Amino acid sequence: MIKHEVVHAPEDLGRMADRCIMVVFGASGDLTTRKLLPALYNLGRHNLLPREFAILGFAKDALTEEEFRKKIRDDIREYAGAPVSCELCDWLADHSYYMTGDFASADDFARMKLRVQELEAQHHTQGNVFYYLATLPQFFPEIVRQLAAQQLTEESEGAWRRVIIEKPFGSDLASAKALNRDIGQVLKEHQIYRIDHYLGKETVQNILIFRFSNGIFEPVWNRRYIDHVQITVAESLGVERRGGYYEHAGALRDMIPNHILQLLSLTAMEPPVSFDANAVRDEQAKVLHAIQTISPEDVLQRAVRGQYGAGLVGTEQVAGYRAEPFVDPQSSTETFVAFKLAIDNWRWADVPFYIRTGKRMPKRVTEIAIQFRSAPFRLFRDTPVEKLTPNTLVMRIQPDEGISLQFGAKIPGAHVRVGPVTMDFEYADYFGTEPSTGYERLLYDCMIGDATLFQRADMVEAGWNVVEPVLDVWKALPAKAFPNYAAGTWGPKDADELMRRDGRVWRNE
Ligand code: BG6
Repeated sequence: MIKHEVVHAPEDLGRMADRCIMVVFGASGDLTTRKLLPALYNLGRHNLLPREFAILGFAKDALTEEEFRKKIRDDIREYAGAPVSCELCDWLADHSYYMTGDFASADDFARMKLRVQELEAQHHTQGNVFYYLATLPQFFPEIVRQLAAQQLTEESEGAWRRVIIEKPFGSDLASAKALNRDIGQVLKEHQIYRIDHYLGKETVQNILIFRFSNGIFEPVWNRRYIDHVQITVAESLGVERRGGYYEHAGALRDMIPNHILQLLSLTAMEPPVSFDANAVRDEQAKVLHAIQTISPEDVLQRAVRGQYGAGLVGTEQVAGYRAEPFVDPQSSTETFVAFKLAIDNWRWADVPFYIRTGKRMPKRVTEIAIQFRSAPFRLFRDTPVEKLTPNTLVMRIQPDEGISLQFGAKIPGAHVRVGPVTMDFEYADYFGTEPSTGYERLLYDCMIGDATLFQRADMVEAGWNVVEPVLDVWKALPAKAFPNYAAGTWGPKDADELMRRDGRVWRNE
């Protein structure tokens, strides 16, 4: 395979971010360790981090500042995914501060305010602060309220204040609306950055570029040429040690209203009038609103749930979901979901979108497959060709990032025979591989005030709106036959049946 020149070096990403302080709530937790600190380090490597910058960690754990700094050095070494420069790592650690605090204590927030003021003076950050809520979701409203009570969210001339809120944003439509209302009472929408880490992935951002920077795809990107779309987010891992969270969430809440609907909206949206944050998000919201509401009767026909039992993933024998740590041995939580969705607009009428996600599938793969209508067979009637394989365009989000187009070609020989072949674009061949946690771009965008890749209140609610009928029916009718697929398989039989009824099959490649 020929290696190509790297077209855009990451250094070309743009200007250095605004000078600021980053306050991390939940600074001793997993997200900070594995994603946020390495992402900051990677931004630093590309000269995108401002020199006037400080991190203030705030968490319940009684760490000293020295311990926090040591942790930062260790975390970066372990998770940055690149050879670590001690100089930069030390610089980040030296710009980091820590305070033990309780999210419900007004006194602790008052102390924090003083700390922020000190750091502002020390690091010349000119009043810009962003708060990252890397905590359990039940603390989100309280933290925002406490920040506002101390006027820590007030913006002034030339000084911005922003809040990044992690997923899950609510656990159903009502709670998402309540959270939007609560935080909306003290923050303006332009200050709120609801994160969905899928939007930090280059391949996800590329969906827009692929569709709208090329002239040849958009004309066929509609019901006239497309038969159906399949979106798969398969994971080979189980729930690991997250059983406590997952028992309440399940695959539906965990993956569909956020990650999968992001993929769907970028695939199905109309061209935005510009790349301005609201122009893009208006179109995403519009298509989410156009998803047909599933009636309770249809839920039984169009939505499938599953839970993995013990099985073999690769060569490893793994336990069933009910035997995982922190999971109820009788649990009726789903670890697999498949849906058939319809989008009620002129572009997509009668083009089903099949979506699925599951844990303990045979392999990790996230992809969007656009299957085009077949060519008419008439011309091939009198040849040995039995059927024509439809063209499929596959956007491979991860791993093995790339795009491929499958089409039919003549198999050399005296007879007319047609075989499927693919044209392949691999990111790694063209652009090399760049260590990334997926959070770099999102942190950077928050620091420059670009909210394009963050969810707006209406998008979050539209996402919950799509899944709400399914949540309701499944709650009323708990699954009886769990576990219903073995670890290491592509989910329950009903998922295949969902496709078979429509004369289609999942791409299990
Ligand atoms: C998270 C979910 O949001 O996304 C996890 O809570 C899931 O359950 C993860 O494993 C998948 O993310 P990625 O980037 O590995 O595809």
